[in-house]
Amino acid sequence: MASKTPVVDVHTHMYPPEYIQILESRGAIPIVRSFPGTPDPRIVLLSTEITPLKEAEAAAARGEETPTSSLPGRPLTSHYASVEQKIHFMDTHGIDVSVLSLANPWLDFVDSDQAGGLAASVNAGFSAMCKAHPGRLFFFAALPVTAPAPILLKTIADVATLPYCRGVILGTGGLGSGLDDPDMEPVLAALGEAGLTIFLHPHYGLPGEVWGPRGGTTGEYGHVLPLALGFPMETTIAVTRLFLAGVFDRLPKLRLLLAHSGGTLPFLAGRIDSCVRHDAHLWKAAKTRRSIWDVLHEQVYLDAVIYSDVGLQAAIAASGGAQGGGLDRLMFGTDHPFFPPLETDEQGEWESVSMNADAVKKALGDGSESAAAIMGGNAVRILRLYEEATEKA
Ligand code: URA
Ligand code: ZN
Repeated sequence: MASKTPVVDVHTHMYPPEYIQILESRGAIPIVRSFPGTPDPRIVLLSTEITPLKEAEAAAARGEETPTSSLPGRPLTSHYASVEQKIHFMDTHGIDVSVLSLANPWLDFVDSDQAGGLAASVNAGFSAMCKAHPGRLFFFAALPVTAPAPILLKTIADVATLPYCRGVILGTGGLGSGLDDPDMEPVLAALGEAGLTIFLHPHYGLPGEVWGPRGGTTGEYGHVLPLALGFPMETTIAVTRLFLAGVFDRLPKLRLLLAHSGGTLPFLAGRIDSCVRHDAHLWKAAKTRRSIWDVLHEQVYLDAVIYSDVGLQAAIAASGGAQGGGLDRLMFGTDHPFFPPLETDEQGEWESVSMNADAVKKALGDGSESAAAIMGGNAVRILRLYEEATEKA
């Protein structure tokens, strides 16, 4: 029987119920907070939302209602925490397999002594969801980055044995000082040795001042500046720092899947390369190292969450191009449950999904072999999705 290449979503998040409970118990971001007059509680994640959060809390304390359009964060709908909702979303959009990940800010904010236990419970929750939907769900595990090193390393060893785990999701903060922190290197080495792909995802963006008085705090420009520009720059900076620190050369088994098609890396890799060539001490070191292009061709995968064929073509070209393996390194994603439709039923089709699927069709041709590879074939191969999901020793 000829089987069609499955459609695989490698960028799709959830907050399991126990994680939501923690956010509900908190007094600062990340936080889940109910406000009078709105049906859904709000989930507030980003530092740019601190001022609107304080304003809405002050209004609530005065017994006033804040208009929904001025509330901080986004409505916490069933899309964030329900696995049944995830399956419905997949069925609605023709997605055969999803590789789930905890959404930002993961466990970055958790007290050191709680982090290991919470990671174990979140990862057990994801395992149970996958087990309940065999063949349809896999996951990237969450790491207790604030825990003492032995606990963090033990978690990596543990998740590597979980049958449905295919990697880990990691923010750019690392242990708190970024991924190029020397203390992070044993962690990255352990992930590489365990064959766990790191799904690198932004959360912190850029400092609020860069958005100007109208951008970051008043809500006048919504989430556009931090999400469309801050997130991709954050990813770009994190990977460039890893590259400049020589980590890719020292850890040849390290594999990163970069969110949002690598931020701005596909567009800026040439400029990074040129700047290295014009900085005397870096160029001396660079002569014995691989270039940023080599890293993009050998150790980095990009998701296809870029919403336009223009960006997608750049991502393919930067990954090696059609002749050089670039088509083999891109993987479709949705970023569900973020970016729901504003004017149509959330149970129906999401424009944010069709924009990404259409970009693949427009760039590579509807029904082409390379489109099928990006829509799922690459993920099956890279993340070993057809490998039997059995408990490893
Ligand atoms: N906003 C977030 O906070 N996270 C995402 O992954 C996407 C949008
Ligand atoms: Zn995301």
